Amino acid sequence: MNFAGKHLITFDDWTKEEIEVVLKTAAVLKQKRYNRERTDYLLRQTLFMIFFEQSTRTRNSMEAAMTQLGGHAHDLTADKMQIAHGESPKDTAIVLSRMGEAIAIRNCFYNIGNKYINEIAKYATIPVISMQDDIYHPLQVIADLMTIREHFGEDTRGLKVVISWAYATSHAKPLSVPQSQILMFPRFGMDVVVAHPPEFPLQKEIVDRAKKHAAENGAKIEFTDSMEDALVDADIVFPKNWGGFAYFDQFVDDEEYFAQMRANLEKYRHWRLDHKKFSAAKPDAKIMHALPADRGKEITDELLDSEHSIIYDEAENRLHTAKAILALTMGGISPE
Ligand code: CP
Repeated sequence: MNFAGKHLITFDDWTKEEIEVVLKTAAVLKQKRYNRERTDYLLRQTLFMIFFEQSTRTRNSMEAAMTQLGGHAHDLTADKMQIAHGESPKDTAIVLSRMGEAIAIRNCFYNIGNKYINEIAKYATIPVISMQDDIYHPLQVIADLMTIREHFGEDTRGLKVVISWAYATSHAKPLSVPQSQILMFPRFGMDVVVAHPPEFPLQKEIVDRAKKHAAENGAKIEFTDSMEDALVDADIVFPKNWGGFAYFDQFVDDEEYFAQMRANLEKYRHWRLDHKKFSAAKPDAKIMHALPADRGKEITDELLDSEHSIIYDEAENRLHTAKAILALTMGGISPE
């Protein structure tokens, strides 16, 4: 296994064995941090982070990760760079490859983000890491997997994971978190139920691939338009909004498109996880959320702050998994 120089755009491009190495490395780095041990695996190395959107967890986990690994992260936005004046991905990729050791990008624009990151990866001679695009969010799903294992043990086969669409008004959240989860969890034997209203589907190609992963790994994946039905006997529940992009399929940047999406959204204000709905899950079921959460809309405050919620463990693991991915792909750590 050779991780040095490897791109991470989706974990579908990585084997299960490689994912196991990431998880093991993250656990070691987590323990070292708790022990206050130095982890200078990337001394004086540079990561360029380009954000086209806002971020709390991704930006800070990646920047803290580089500091704790002995390197430095440039916190860039598209408008700070000549990208704003139309510089090509090819020129950006080649120039940054001459100056540093890795590039990380968040670009969630529908039908644009993943293409942009792949175009950078085509020309970069250093690893390119997706910090979320319109299709995938690998850095989130690896932290989710680490957190699930910490709470349920390494053998995750047969766990019932519910990924439920939920009402939110803050913004039309990308499809990338639930899509990465339905691709990843069945590979580790988890049974996934996805609940969403008809106007908020996931992308068909991703759903088809997730079904294939489930079949190949002895897991189940089911879809329903009832949040209540999905929750029965759940071990883990993700109540999470996503935008209706795949319903329209083609992104159109105009007011009518968003007005239609908002009108669809308002029909489903009752898709909120509360104690009554959650009582159908197993008594010791856990609640997870990538954050930011629309508190009171996707889920009640009471439930998100309850003993069932492991959202802060999940957020903290963004740091440890980010460090593992950076140290491995930038060549600071080699798998044993
Ligand atoms: N979950 C997540 O990616 O959070 P941010 O958008 O704050 O980075």
